[in-house]
Amino acid sequence: MKVSEDRNRIVIFDTTLRDGEQSPGASMNLDEKLRIAQVLEAMGVDIIEAGFPIASDGDFEAVREIARTVKDSVVCGLARASRMDIDRCAEALRPAVSGRIHTFISTSPLHMQYKLRMQPEDVLAAVTESVAIARDHAGDVEWSAEDGSRTEHDFLCRCVEAAIAAGARTINIPDTVGYAVPDEFAGLIGMLFERVPNIDQAVISVHCHNDLGLAVANSLAAIGAGARQVECTINGLGERAGNAAMEEIVMALRTRQDRLPFTCGVRSEDITKASRLVSATTGFKVQPNKAIVGANAFAHEAGIHQDGVLKHAGTYEIMTPESVGLSKSTLVLGKHSGRHAFKEKLKDLGYDPGDNAIQDAFKRFKALADKKKEIFDEDIIALVDEEGRVNDRIALLSLEVLCGTKHHPPKAEMELLFDGKSKSCQATGVGPVDAAFNCIKKLIEHEARLQLYHVHAVTQGTDAQAEVTVRLEENGKTVNGQGADTDTMVASVKAYVNALNKLLVKRGKSVPAALSA
Ligand code: KIV
Ligand code: ZN
Repeated sequence: MKVSEDRNRIVIFDTTLRDGEQSPGASMNLDEKLRIAQVLEAMGVDIIEAGFPIASDGDFEAVREIARTVKDSVVCGLARASRMDIDRCAEALRPAVSGRIHTFISTSPLHMQYKLRMQPEDVLAAVTESVAIARDHAGDVEWSAEDGSRTEHDFLCRCVEAAIAAGARTINIPDTVGYAVPDEFAGLIGMLFERVPNIDQAVISVHCHNDLGLAVANSLAAIGAGARQVECTINGLGERAGNAAMEEIVMALRTRQDRLPFTCGVRSEDITKASRLVSATTGFKVQPNKAIVGANAFAHEAGIHQDGVLKHAGTYEIMTPESVGLSKSTLVLGKHSGRHAFKEKLKDLGYDPGDNAIQDAFKRFKALADKKKEIFDEDIIALVDEEGRVNDRIALLSLEVLCGTKHHPPKAEMELLFDGKSKSCQATGVGPVDAAFNCIKKLIEHEARLQLYHVHAVTQGTDAQAEVTVRLEENGKTVNGQGADTDTMVASVKAYVNALNKLLVKRGKSVPAALSA
């Protein structure tokens, strides 16, 4: 990453795995985080904030594994202004080729008084001390003024100056509660450039939340005022209303070079892939009219628009679908396609699974092609996204469901494999899904609550695969499970079983109460 050499280069700092994961329900397991980190690295993200190592052993492990794996992006960990946090963060980052410690403390009157219960002078001392501790571990240290946009200017200037003097090379100004408006936020950044004497020794960064829907606008305004790092997330995932969406920042820079003459290292063609992966992993669906990555972002429904686009795409299209990696849903493969064509298709779609994984996915592709005449890119993506379940303790063996106007109540009969043993049972429910899920609960007793059940048709047509997301919560821990199949009931059960498998891993200890049937 060559930050200082090009004054017009914007450093893209992705915090999907840290701030994004803090959204209730968006928790991800280690494999999922690693996969997302690899996609972020491949798309050219400069810095990946991989987690908050002190928060849990899972977070620590995720940061360490990402630090081990990622080579081309800087891997960053978050730490509060305390020695314990910073030491733990440094330990997690030890294997990184390039690691960054990101330490923060609140600086606004409200946060200092009610959250920290600290006097401003003590906060100022903590800034210097925490940055110095972090610098003992790493050359690359970022300091953040939490609730920076609501901090008194004089105090913010003193804190920023102190952090730089203590060795922070990136200073981040968050709009933590998404309260700022663009000209005000740009004014704040401009004020820092005017008043902080050593400001030229650091890169100024911004981190905007979207409570008023202004996160991207505020980030772009800050760039105009001199900020050169933007913190953002894929799909705008993040606390409450989320963070600035990376895809919107990147495409605004690419599309409006006339007003925003800046560059960044992110390959915009990878945006759609990253968006789909984050959405599938977290179960957070992207709204259809979401800028850049929504299903309708490049769709033209009105006849007058379609006519214009056919005559000249520029009439209604300011970006091409290809520039965000969106290819038209193309018929790709069929029943007679061979392994080689399948492998090439996977490469085209940006997947590079190992030989065993290809073997497995190819088998499932053939099974799908037997059921469904036309196989689209989206079908292949759904197939591959089901990969990596070889170590699962629970698997669906068979399912039969009776429902409809003549069958009251709906009834499901199911056979599951659990730790190598096959068990079956029957159950009824208010609907077929309820009946099937009741079967799972009978076979594998658990207390987890169903928080989300979502069905999405992968492609168009009644033979489309259903992609189901199930979110389970147990003792404050959430997991998301996914399943895809041309049969919605099978997809639903696969998704529930996938979530339960993840829960078992999360519990660590774990055999759920004995199989009951
Ligand atoms: O929103 C915020 O203030 C944060 C900081 C920890 C950077 O996420
Ligand atoms: Zn944040």
